[in-house]
Amino acid sequence: MQPSEFSSPHKTTAADITQATLRSFENTPNPRTKELLIAAVKHLHAFAAEVKLTTSELIRLAEILTEAGQISDRSRHEFLLMSDVMGFTMVVDYNTNVKPDGAFESSVLGPFYRENSPWIELGGNICRQADSGVPARISGRVLSIDGKPIQGAILDIWQVASNGMYENTDPTQIDFNLRGRLCAAEDGRYHFWTVKPVPYPIPKDGPAGLILNGAARHNMRAAHIHIIAEAPGYQKVISELFSAGDPYLHSDAVFGVKDSLVVDYVLHETPEDAQKYGRSVPFYTAEYDIVLVAGETKSEVKFSADRS
Ligand code: BEZ
Ligand code: FE
Repeated sequence: MQPSEFSSPHKTTAADITQATLRSFENTPNPRTKELLIAAVKHLHAFAAEVKLTTSELIRLAEILTEAGQISDRSRHEFLLMSDVMGFTMVVDYNTNVKPDGAFESSVLGPFYRENSPWIELGGNICRQADSGVPARISGRVLSIDGKPIQGAILDIWQVASNGMYENTDPTQIDFNLRGRLCAAEDGRYHFWTVKPVPYPIPKDGPAGLILNGAARHNMRAAHIHIIAEAPGYQKVISELFSAGDPYLHSDAVFGVKDSLVVDYVLHETPEDAQKYGRSVPFYTAEYDIVLVAGETKSEVKFSADRS
């Protein structure tokens, strides 16, 4: 008898497993959960097929994810950090925050936001401690997309000191140093003093560091000031202002830089400037108008770190 006379028995393939897995999620009651699970299965299975993932690599991945869980706590979200360094957080940001041209664009919140920071007067200083860096005055207007001043706009601001550390992770800084909230004036104008931000490293001692080291990438964030801008009737924006000329603008470890968020800092060194601004030189000034879009905030992010 010739072998061709037998009909060969079906041999289960990886594609069969993919189909069976997809079928197993068909009755997922919540439509969004179903969409997410089905797409995750399709992409994960395709990923495994594309790279010919081996069982030992899968187990290594499970170990890495376990380490990410173990190193995480209330203030440290290693999975989010892994998402950040993989560019995933910013891709999701682009999906979430679609803005018309000219509007204040969003960027990563990062893990160092603390809610309820102290209020400062318009023109006040969020730098509460000497030796925190070179002073900088940030000013501008909070406007609607059609150029009208927004009354009652609130800015929540935080940044690192010149040692590259946020106060809540640095015992040498006083509570809430370089953090503060202010209300813009009726004509939308705002101004406050801080220090010119410096680039700083993100934590590299966990699985996110494993990714960066494995790829021979650095762990520096381009210098930035975090700002959350909100006003009644307008979409809240979580964002950052970056410094023109910063060495990490084009290689920010978490891909947070958008062109519209880069500001020029002007250095002031003359006695005339000292007199004009009532402040000893040197210091910087930077101007930036914050343009908000009318409407509801679509995706509220609630996360606040503690002081360790
Ligand atoms: C930050 O800007 O503070 C930050 C953002 C993402 C990951 C780590 C730090
Ligand atoms: Fe930051």
